[in-house]
Amino acid sequence: MPPAPTPGPPAGKPLLRALRGERVDPPPVWLMRQAGRYLPEYRALRDRAADFMALCGAPELAAEITLQPVRRFGLDAAIVFSDILVAPHAMGRTVRFSEGAGPLLEPLAGAGDIDALDAERAVDGNRALLETLALTRRALDADTALIGFAGAPFTLAAYMIDGRGGGAFPRTRALMTDDPALLDRLVAVLVRAVSALLVAQIDAGAEAVQIFDSWAGLLEDDGSFARWATAPAAAIAAEVHDARPGAPAIGFPRAAGRRFAAFAEGSGVDALQVDEMTPLAAMAALQRRAPVQGNLDPGVLRAGGEALDGAVRATVAALGGGPHVFNLGHGVIRDTPPENVARLVAAVRGGSP
Ligand code: CP3
Repeated sequence: MPPAPTPGPPAGKPLLRALRGERVDPPPVWLMRQAGRYLPEYRALRDRAADFMALCGAPELAAEITLQPVRRFGLDAAIVFSDILVAPHAMGRTVRFSEGAGPLLEPLAGAGDIDALDAERAVDGNRALLETLALTRRALDADTALIGFAGAPFTLAAYMIDGRGGGAFPRTRALMTDDPALLDRLVAVLVRAVSALLVAQIDAGAEAVQIFDSWAGLLEDDGSFARWATAPAAAIAAEVHDARPGAPAIGFPRAAGRRFAAFAEGSGVDALQVDEMTPLAAMAALQRRAPVQGNLDPGVLRAGGEALDGAVRATVAALGGGPHVFNLGHGVIRDTPPENVARLVAAVRGGSP
């Protein structure tokens, strides 16, 4: 009789197992904005490119920046170093970053500008991003997953319509009431652009994709949230699932509040990224519908110390009974001490840094 197989660790990368609905103990951990200015090794490389968009367009540098936090902290995933605004940039809506003001674009002037947009350019103009993914994937070990991403259509539309971020988006708000059909047209072309860009990222080496709807909280009634957040996410998730069935899609309708449940139900995404405004009990309820990722307050990470350890323990205790990926509720804040990230990872894994 052949010897019974020795039970080894279950097959597959921890992040992908959790995103497919498995309970993984300890939970896999990565952080939104895990690469960037809080890391001295990032600041040392940043000036090698003319500006931030050029850095995103330089595959060797971008791959190295993607790997920096993975090497330093032993995270379970790398998220490709890029930006959600590379899609509109490639579609001819040039993005500039000004110190202090954040991203600036020439605002879309009306129907003519919207009808002139070509979804295919989002892929054709982002070959550097695809090359970054390929380079990064080759450098990762067998347990670390690679995440690709894109902005959700509504959030991209808001930047393209108003030409800047900041949260006010007066022109976008006006368009929602004055000409919702025109906003539908813009969202439709962005659904095609984002779907194609995510499929291309999977082909280049991404094993999961995340859709960032950072400004979904502007959609203040159920009808507009369903129309411009849930329905576009559903169209993108369906396209990605049809084209590349193996790659899970994570949806992030930030600040969706009580509408997270409707999003989970209607979007068909494989997992939900949850923000820090959502209480852990509400997140645990969402976990009955889909694997959840999140939602530690980035301010608690910045503060560090025992408060951080306590918050990590509370999160793992609330969500450890089901599929959970440990993450923040939003990106790492710029002046976060790197040693706090090491402390977080150790706390998630139940040891000391
Ligand atoms: O998570 C990661 O580490 C991957 C890289 C990543 C960046 N941006 C790099 C970046 C990801 C996933 C993003 C997503 C992104 N970009 C979002 C969605 C998530 C969110 O924060 O809500 C949004 C809205 C953007 C648009 C954007 N890009 C803004 C508003 C800014 C300026 C804010 C700032 O921090 O200055 C950026 C610039 C940006 N994107 C930086 C980085 C590392 C800072 C660039 C620098 O000056 O070095």
